[in-house]
Amino acid sequence: MRILGIETSCDETALAVMSEQDGRFVVEQNILASQAKTHAKYGGVVPEVAAREHAALLFPLLHQMDLAPDGKDVDAIAVTSGPGLVPALRIGVELAKTLSWVWKKPLVAVNHLEGHLYSVWLDTAPAFPALCLLVSGGHTELILMHGHGHYEFLGMTRDDAAGEAFDKVAKLLGLPYPGGPEISKAATTGNPCAIDFPRPMIDSGDLDFSFAGLKTAVRVYLASSPPLAKGRPGGVEDGRPGGVEDVAASFQQAVVDTLVSKTLQAVHKTKPRSVILSGGVSANRLLRETLRDNLHAYSTEISFHAPDLSLTGDNAVMIALAGLFKAKRGEFCDPLTLVADPNLRLGSPGLQPGCSPG
Ligand code: KG4
Ligand code: ZN
Repeated sequence: MRILGIETSCDETALAVMSEQDGRFVVEQNILASQAKTHAKYGGVVPEVAAREHAALLFPLLHQMDLAPDGKDVDAIAVTSGPGLVPALRIGVELAKTLSWVWKKPLVAVNHLEGHLYSVWLDTAPAFPALCLLVSGGHTELILMHGHGHYEFLGMTRDDAAGEAFDKVAKLLGLPYPGGPEISKAATTGNPCAIDFPRPMIDSGDLDFSFAGLKTAVRVYLASSPPLAKGRPGGVEDGRPGGVEDVAASFQQAVVDTLVSKTLQAVHKTKPRSVILSGGVSANRLLRETLRDNLHAYSTEISFHAPDLSLTGDNAVMIALAGLFKAKRGEFCDPLTLVADPNLRLGSPGLQPGCSPG
């Protein structure tokens, strides 16, 4: 089977063609145009601007792809139908519906979060039950995957997502958007023990997260200290932790400690056979390494999976991959009635509005 994937839920315009050959997944084509520079001047993604850019980019990108004009070389089309920014989602959904109708190819609606989870399936097949830590700009969730398409929610953030906290703290530190990569870069020369930021909800007894208070702790710290110098890593000449780098490293350590602690609590509760880390924040090296090492120390029987760095952020390969699995289960939707749903829930795939299994 060969499938075209389309992703426009936020600020990446992405198209990919994937196929399954002899049980292996092959990325045949993969195009991604990031709008990050456009949104950087606003300090975050502006939904209407994102939608306009998707609309301007999608057709030229589609033309760049090596595809027959009548679509005869693809068997199905997969598109992100939610969650995400509704004006942005709509552009991809309408293109997918049009292609499905004109090419007479079945349409698969993919949940963006499901796409992130499936990004690891490109080169591995985690054993079920798989415990998933999904960390992105809009989501921080612990999900137990009992099998393909079977999800159980264990916990989620009650306020800011982990990526959102990285972006907001970066803004406080005067670092550009997106903040995650900037903070982790600054943190490499900072002292993670310089400032004792809170590890929110670490002993709450449930598997929920909260990052708004941590962001406020950084704000309060900055407000109560003289302007920070850059490039003074770990500087304590004035008796105080110094520099943007120390704040970045201490904040990053607090987020990583919290995510890893909660994930291990979930491992203890659910006894999974594998752990999957995915979403944009899974690009964070400290998080990848700390989670892998702590899991290994807990049990060598549980395998650890994280996507290739090229697939941590939003992309269409993961949408095509999740779409392939859904197509194989016959979970198609009606190209006339599918609607973009900004609040689409994971958990009842094939039973979303406009979709029916089989
Ligand atoms: O999954 P994603 O590309 O988009 C959403 O679906 O939200 O995630 C984007 C988020 C942003 O908040 C970005 O700052 C964060 O992922 N991010 C990182 C890193 N790279 C990207 N956060 C921490 N460390 C990183 N290296
Ligand atoms: Zn995402």
